Amino acid sequence: MAKTRKPSNSSLTRRRILAGAFGAGAIAALARIGGGTSFAEETGTGTTEATTTATAAGGTLPIPDRLDPTVEDGVSVFTLQAQTGTNTSLVSGETINTAGYNGTLLGPTMLVSDGEPVRFDVTNSLGEATTVHWHGLHIAPSADGGPQNLIKDGDTWSAATTINQGEACTLWYHPHGLGTTTEQVVLGLAGLLIVDDGSDANAALPTDYGANDVPLIMQSTAVTSAGAFATTNATFTASASTVKFLVNGMSATDETPTLEVAYGRVRLRLLNASITDSITLALTDSGSLTQVASDAGLLAEPISISSLRLSPGERAEIVLDLTAADDAVTLRATVRNTTNGTRYTVSMLTVSSTATEAADNLPGTLNTISDIDATDATTRTFTLSNSGATMLINGIAGTTMEIMDANAVMTTVGAIEQWTITNSSTNIYHNFHLHDVPFQVVSIGGSAPTGANTGWRDTIEVAPSTTVVIKMQFTDYSDNEYMYMLHCHNVIHEDEGMMLGLMVMS
Ligand code: C2O
Ligand code: CU
Ligand code: CU
Repeated sequence: MAKTRKPSNSSLTRRRILAGAFGAGAIAALARIGGGTSFAEETGTGTTEATTTATAAGGTLPIPDRLDPTVEDGVSVFTLQAQTGTNTSLVSGETINTAGYNGTLLGPTMLVSDGEPVRFDVTNSLGEATTVHWHGLHIAPSADGGPQNLIKDGDTWSAATTINQGEACTLWYHPHGLGTTTEQVVLGLAGLLIVDDGSDANAALPTDYGANDVPLIMQSTAVTSAGAFATTNATFTASASTVKFLVNGMSATDETPTLEVAYGRVRLRLLNASITDSITLALTDSGSLTQVASDAGLLAEPISISSLRLSPGERAEIVLDLTAADDAVTLRATVRNTTNGTRYTVSMLTVSSTATEAADNLPGTLNTISDIDATDATTRTFTLSNSGATMLINGIAGTTMEIMDANAVMTTVGAIEQWTITNSSTNIYHNFHLHDVPFQVVSIGGSAPTGANTGWRDTIEVAPSTTVVIKMQFTDYSDNEYMYMLHCHNVIHEDEGMMLGLMVMS
């Protein structure tokens, strides 16, 4: 196995980083709070800070509330509380334990703008330790919410930054404890963070949250015979388990959610928040989709696609032109497991519009993406592999903080790097997610990227026996104590060890 190459300036010193670590298995069972409210009700309501409420009635798509910040000395303060709940409607006769932020399932959407000073105050009421990571956000390592940012039960943790993204994008937040990410994400701990870059192109796209700018948090999940969300492949596929496809917490498996908008065009912000499955979206009438953003920013221009595949953790934005369609359009999801076997196909959303006037044309140009000059880049190789159920990155299973510390990839702020990532598992799909900065794709299987892979990304699928080359520049933030993470975002694999720390030194 290739070893991580360390920078030559090895006089760099760093403090050991074991404090605050919490290991797999050290976590007590969640405290159970009996709520008994349904998914649909709970995803449509929230705390008093939330102002945009779309109530789910019948088959109407629930839309996560918008969380309005309070303003303290010019800083937008977002208050989140991680809490537990139960659901009794997803599988009849079963009471399923759930969790959410400011509610019992999923979390509210936070909208922020480039240049905005923000603070996230997170209170942990889960009954066990957690962290909250801002997936895709360019933020200092000490505020990134990785495994070192432990929030003990009952504690409040604050992460402050000035939004410094430079891109309009759809990011998300979720737990990131070492060895506990799967069991916490699967309960419903996931929410969206939307960044507005102030660009004309973003403003020309639909931006009225909940009205014509609608998030779709998609989760392929399974409820075991014991009435719990499955956290392993074995329990996911057990014949007694009930597989469900949730959209914003609503089961599309039982009833296709409907969305009616008063606009001719709607922007859908898609997130695959599944623990292990990939999702391929297409229209049931085989019509084309218009994609405007990859997971870390707007594309250079809108692209027309027939389908869109999202591996776990990935986002994309599409726009639907509804006045061009005679009637409602329906999105279908084809869901595949980690060996790419089709699990099921489900009609996940039907969208219709009451508008009669055609929408303005989409902007022809959305973004200027300057190519990173990697001529003198530091190069590294990463091999994703498995030994049975143990998931390895460069031959290492990152399952303890000692291992994360001893094997951290070391770089320096300002460095431009080019990474060659090979999936050497023979039939298991992996993907690769990098914290801190987005990357550009150099090649996939030896070929130049096309379509959405020409845009900024922070997560990319790596098929078996395939090599993906990416390049990035580490800007702005460094720390000699706190690490970023890089890992497979199949969170079962992440928890099994397919994760390394990344230390950006000054
Ligand atoms: Cu979405 Cu390291 O995480
Ligand atoms: Cu991340
Ligand atoms: Cu993987």
